[in-house]
Amino acid sequence: MKSVHIAARSLKNISNVLRGIPAVILANLLLTRRCTQNCLQCTIPQDSGDTPFMEMANFTRLVDMFDRHGTQFVSLSGGEPILHQHIDECIRYATQKQFVHVQLLSTLYASKPVVEKVVDVLLETGAGIQVSFDGFGEVADTLRGATNVSDTVQWGMELITRKNKQRRKPVRTSANIVLSKLNLHQTDRILNYIECLGWKCNVDLYRWTSENTNEVQDLKIEDNREFKDALDRIIGSPAVTTPTFIIEHFTDYLKGDVPKRCPYLDSRGLGTKIYVNPECSVSVCIGKPFGNLLEQSPVEFFRSKEWSDRIKMMRACKGCWNSCYTPSGIVFHPGSISDLKAIWEIVRKG
Ligand SMILES: C[S@@+](CC[C@H](N)C(=O)[O-])C[C@H]1O[C@@H](n2cnc3c(N)ncnc32)[C@H](O)[C@@H]1O
Ligand code: SF4
Ligand code: SF4
Repeated sequence: MKSVHIAARSLKNISNVLRGIPAVILANLLLTRRCTQNCLQCTIPQDSGDTPFMEMANFTRLVDMFDRHGTQFVSLSGGEPILHQHIDECIRYATQKQFVHVQLLSTLYASKPVVEKVVDVLLETGAGIQVSFDGFGEVADTLRGATNVSDTVQWGMELITRKNKQRRKPVRTSANIVLSKLNLHQTDRILNYIECLGWKCNVDLYRWTSENTNEVQDLKIEDNREFKDALDRIIGSPAVTTPTFIIEHFTDYLKGDVPKRCPYLDSRGLGTKIYVNPECSVSVCIGKPFGNLLEQSPVEFFRSKEWSDRIKMMRACKGCWNSCYTPSGIVFHPGSISDLKAIWEIVRKG
């Protein structure tokens, strides 16, 4: 039955692309800018603005809109999305549509009752979860600007893992690891932990060029032996879903020696990735939020002057490697047939 819905969505994707409209394969909905942590690398909690939480009526409107548009994947993110008062309703509402996959992107850094409630809703609805996990002990506390971070997050990850084992069809679990100079020495330990849990993970590098990121000298990775060893460990890990060619070029990226491959420009139809903010403005990888999906349909938005201006900014961008080529960024620029297959697996499985 699900394949019928995927096929119907694919037809909408094709129809949009033929009209020159991005398919928005993945829609990222930021339920709030508020957060339980204050990471060194991120500015989102400092930009709470006038609309700290997405209103439920607007959330359902957006979900309906992307459902009609043919979106295949929906990610509920933030800030910390589990702070949203109606997070359970949001997950239920999105999962009762026939998207290929709905995923929560959280750190699970909250009180045990809140985490337990969210985990139960995930298991009830079949929504997946991606948990940010990039260190243990003091390293995690420093990176995340909070206390007891790794113990708290691990408690939630292990709760899901235990409950998942009792299910006939486990929910999808993955971690998002952001490597920086401060946690590089923990790469092996982080991957051991993820592998023991039986989770998948995406690996990204700390970056500082987009609006939501902070430039912090102490986080910038240097191209040295430790980094090369970490990359070898990552490439050899069965848990890592980030395509190998992306990881292999991380060192070239640090040296500024990779060609510009911009998914928005190379594959406007399929590579365009958008984030909808709590007040329903839109953000992309570059520049300030713009437009508003309460006032514009996706088609109107992509035909607007602001969108064509943003494309001009993207043309002027020097390029990136990590931010745009992570699995959820999808990436229609495979380096080889095996990478194409790897990417397709990620698209298929979410
Ligand atoms: C902005 S957070 C939102 C969801 C949730 N608060 C979390 O941290 O998982 C989404 C992801 O962006 C990552 N991120 C934030 N700032 C980053 C940066 N400067 N470079 C790379 N990744 C970053 C986070 O580690 C997290 O995995
Ligand atoms: S990365 Fe996530 S947890 Fe950290 S401050 Fe940003 S939104 Fe919060
Ligand atoms: S940061 Fe630059 S190269 Fe990367 S996706 Fe955005 S516009 Fe394209």
